[in-house]
Amino acid sequence: MSDPIDFAALPDDFAWGVATSAYQIEGAVAEDGRSPSIWDTFSHTPGKIDNNDTGDLACDHYHRWREDIELMKQLDVDAYRFSIAWPRVVPGGEGPVNAKGLDFYEELVDTLLAAGITPSVTLYHWDLPQVLQDRGGWTERDTAEHLAAYASAVAERLGDRVTHWATLNEPLCSAWIGHLEGRMAPGLTDLTAAVQASYHLLLGHGLAAQAVRAAVPDAEVGIVNNLSTVEPATKSDADVLAARRMDGHTNRWWLDPVHGRGFPEDMREVYGVDLPERPGDAETIAQPLDWLGLNYYFPAVVADDPAGPAPYARQVRRLHVPRTGMDWEIDAHGIERLLLRLTHEYAPRRLYVTENGSAYPDIVRPDGSVDDPERTEYLLQHVAACARAARKGAPLAGYFAWSLLDNFEWAYGYDKRFGLVHVDYATQRRTIKGSGHRYHDIVRGHRRRPRRAA
Ligand code: FCB
Repeated sequence: MSDPIDFAALPDDFAWGVATSAYQIEGAVAEDGRSPSIWDTFSHTPGKIDNNDTGDLACDHYHRWREDIELMKQLDVDAYRFSIAWPRVVPGGEGPVNAKGLDFYEELVDTLLAAGITPSVTLYHWDLPQVLQDRGGWTERDTAEHLAAYASAVAERLGDRVTHWATLNEPLCSAWIGHLEGRMAPGLTDLTAAVQASYHLLLGHGLAAQAVRAAVPDAEVGIVNNLSTVEPATKSDADVLAARRMDGHTNRWWLDPVHGRGFPEDMREVYGVDLPERPGDAETIAQPLDWLGLNYYFPAVVADDPAGPAPYARQVRRLHVPRTGMDWEIDAHGIERLLLRLTHEYAPRRLYVTENGSAYPDIVRPDGSVDDPERTEYLLQHVAACARAARKGAPLAGYFAWSLLDNFEWAYGYDKRFGLVHVDYATQRRTIKGSGHRYHDIVRGHRRRPRRAA
């Protein structure tokens, strides 16, 4: 059973939120001037996605967003983290802005604010306009500059109402899974392309952060990384070194440059790929950050794998440990350890858990209610671990549950359900699950707790 949640460890203005991303929920892929993204291309490539699912309809959020805000009101959350689709706003990847694309997000933001829900915008959650991919995508430096121009357009329109901005979501997935492992768009398996993409993503982060700040002086800008605790599978020297490489690949490569420490030397050697560095880039990448976002799902236990792809370390499947429906190991202490590691090693002004959650097959009862005790337990354990980290000094300012809705779970399609709200895809009917009701209790529990003495 989970520990009780130490609500008193969390600040009074702690933000309880839910998160989604554009391609996973919106649908309406050809409406109001949206152009295809790399995820449209990838999901329409036979064999890439379980069941050959696509995001064509997804949760039809583009038409049902009012209902989805009503659900957030029922959950009584303080904040909503969502992403903006670059191909809606700048369908050509660069160049003219499509006002209709921005109209959609403007109405969404206004309605959130009217409901007392703070919008938290992610500019890039993996849906690169396909036209830019056709010209090399993230392997090209121009893409970073185009991201900044798109960021400017969004910030100029929404900046008088949105203060909370994230540049990138999980650049690790874009670079390593998209360009090295090939399990995500654009589906490449090329180390050189992957390393170049990683560089241009972080350059794009820096340029986009500057662009947002130029348009929105009081913007609070951050970046969202998915990080893992990394343990060697055995005490052998080979596994210990493999764990060090995996830590570099998963964590340090993404954290060090944005904190002004440059790209880790040991990992440059592991990859053996020259970075497309130019004078001034290191400073651009290291823009001061108002906050750091942590997406946490599972720990990594790794063994040496000299024959595998970089970083020549493979995840080991530990036996006799609890797992989610993704087959991901459950370790709530991992989120506490990562929050404390970020606190001690990178001294962020503020931390947010920008995603955390679990997929399980749901049980829909004959009366239509949805019972999900395992997801509820995962939620309680992880929120309790977050509060422990706050008690030990992590400057944790909010927690966003992944996800508001069941949605298009990338290569897994619709079979993997992460929502606090169940979606019946045949009818688009939404039903708050047991975990959603429990989350509502958590939010209220924190609000009702005894206040800290002044
Ligand atoms: C993260 C992604 C998010 C979602 C969760 C389960 O890696 O940021 O879009 O798919 O995993």
